[in-house]
Amino acid sequence: METGTPDFVPAVVPARPGPGPTPRLADGLAYGGDYNPEQFPRDVWDEDVRLMREAGVNLVTLGVFAWGTVETADGERDWTWMDEAVDLLERNGIGIDLATPTAAPPQWLLTAHPEIAPVLADGYREPAGGRNAWCPASLLYRRHALRQVESLAERYGRHPSVRLWHVGNELGGGNARCHCERSAAAFREWLARRHGSLEAVNAAWGTEQWGHRYGRWEEVMPPLGRHGAPNPALFLDYERYSSDALLSHYLAEKEVIERHSDVPVTTNLMVGAGAQVVDYASWAPHTAVAANDHYTSVDDPLREQDLAFSGDRMRGMAADRRPWLLMESSTGGPSWQRRNRAKDPGEILRHSLGHVARGADGVMFFQWRASTSGAEQFHSAMLPHTGTRSRVWKEVVELGARLKSLAEIRGTRVEAAKAAIVVDDPAGWALRHGLKPHRDLSYGRELRAWHRALWDRQVLCDVVPPDRDLDGYDLVIVPNLLVVDRAAADRLSSVPERGGTLLVTYLSGICEADSKVITGGFPGAFRDVLGAWSDEFYPLQEGEAVELDDGTAVTDWTERVHLDGAEAVVRYASSSLADGPAVTRRAVGGGAAWYVSAPLAAESADRIAARLIADAGLERAAEAEPGLEAVRRTGPGRSYLFLLNHDDTDRTVAAEGHDLLSGDRVGPETTVPAGGVRVLREPVRQPGHHAPDHIEDRP
Ligand code: GAL
Repeated sequence: METGTPDFVPAVVPARPGPGPTPRLADGLAYGGDYNPEQFPRDVWDEDVRLMREAGVNLVTLGVFAWGTVETADGERDWTWMDEAVDLLERNGIGIDLATPTAAPPQWLLTAHPEIAPVLADGYREPAGGRNAWCPASLLYRRHALRQVESLAERYGRHPSVRLWHVGNELGGGNARCHCERSAAAFREWLARRHGSLEAVNAAWGTEQWGHRYGRWEEVMPPLGRHGAPNPALFLDYERYSSDALLSHYLAEKEVIERHSDVPVTTNLMVGAGAQVVDYASWAPHTAVAANDHYTSVDDPLREQDLAFSGDRMRGMAADRRPWLLMESSTGGPSWQRRNRAKDPGEILRHSLGHVARGADGVMFFQWRASTSGAEQFHSAMLPHTGTRSRVWKEVVELGARLKSLAEIRGTRVEAAKAAIVVDDPAGWALRHGLKPHRDLSYGRELRAWHRALWDRQVLCDVVPPDRDLDGYDLVIVPNLLVVDRAAADRLSSVPERGGTLLVTYLSGICEADSKVITGGFPGAFRDVLGAWSDEFYPLQEGEAVELDDGTAVTDWTERVHLDGAEAVVRYASSSLADGPAVTRRAVGGGAAWYVSAPLAAESADRIAARLIADAGLERAAEAEPGLEAVRRTGPGRSYLFLLNHDDTDRTVAAEGHDLLSGDRVGPETTVPAGGVRVLREPVRQPGHHAPDHIEDRP
């Protein structure tokens, strides 16, 4: 039985380290998927590698859930199958993204030590059976995990086919928050580091309320139970601790690997719109190449925009817009959605190139061959159950060929965006915890709304954390940034003074980083620069709407806004707020500061976005109606224009160049067929138009 205080303290994450060179994972763009040969008889493997070559696969993730099939009993390891699989891949020239198998501890370990499993807020300990069923503060789990990682790294760390290390799998997917005694002890240690003393914790959390002052450290517990009225500051710090606890596990595995291997290390993040399970912006700097798992949702009518958002966020968290890797995606329905529908013909290529357009230097899928048994037996794959006569297989082979024709794009960077949307996981966590004026607001919705308004107009934006240097951006949008620290608020507030445009939405800048409300008029952190403030919130009931004088209506949220230097651009037109400002603009030097006090209808946001784009002088990558996505990647003396037509009618746009996919030379106009893609190597535009980029490389 594991008892006592853990002898590790999760790192309070250090500042971002400088990026190393971008690893070269394949000769061109990487292509492949999770490969689990241990699930199939040996004679299937030969067919696997033959078909991988046919499809142009050059990188596979191996061993990701293979702890129990190697360490078959405590300390007893049988590497036979893995040795054979590694050799087979090497003989066939297929690179390996070698995974540490620590997401899935073996049955013998879980049976001997059920206490390594995480505990939910209601005290329920997860039984064995799933994945990531371990507590990040369990020293026992960590010892076993690092021991297995070490033997894996010793064995294959210098193998020439190993191109990348893949730590665990989707860290935090399932075990991001543990509420056991060990976690409580680790949380206290973390708090002591963050705040310095228990007194400082009391002050930061405002524990005088309800007389909840802590007299001894032992009294501090993770947020437990279902009483529904926890201290939001406690919640927020617990979320931060949990992110750091998992990051500390990632760093521990990375350190062990690096003792035996020079191969770059990463882990697969799950980056989408909204608050993530952990604060990925603090994780990405610790990866040699940021890696993302992205799955489209059939019930999302704008799933291509969701995909674009994810790519823009990946790029925004990877230093210097350096390329990243799409580690997992699907060729069809996954198995964890309510209705797992296949992709439509052409979507595999279009979605995959959508990621490449936004900076991915490789496209990988979960998984190579569909599993016939087990939890994921109905998940799509590159090689589906139907085999090579399936449509999916044909599209997979076609995608491999297309990626090959795009090989020269590897290492180029997405053009520097002039617009940014600020995203912050802690702000998203803060929005959903505690007794907020509206309990059902989704952080992702407002982020997606503003991103969509730019995406529809082919205007590129980076989705960046608030600590990012904003100097290069002419337009900065700040949706629902409920908590913000002083330094970030100052940086954001200085955008208009230097001639930029700042747009802040409702529920931003309301609280300091520790969740304390900033008094004197909302949004306290931004009211000076906005020249507007509000004093009362009027969240709307389900089904309720309030009209605006631009002919649209808003749902969910409204507030009473007062002008103090700004002008009203749009006013409320019904409810007790009628005639009061809804959207305001303050001219500041050469720039402007906008406040949007309600979640605008798309039509209304579109009108504002058009004005923001014009005011900030933002360039569109192509002039087209919504549905045609256009993005550029550039390198020294090179420029590539990606045109993705998500619509069901052909689209013609002004663009010229050599289409790397079809081999056609096109221009001055080009037609992108319905559902199709073009990637044009363009004549390089006037010098100075693009800042030349460097292709960093690691042999
Ligand atoms: C991911 C996970 C994969 C696989 C996939 C199915 O979240 O990393 O191992 O389960 O989902 O879509």
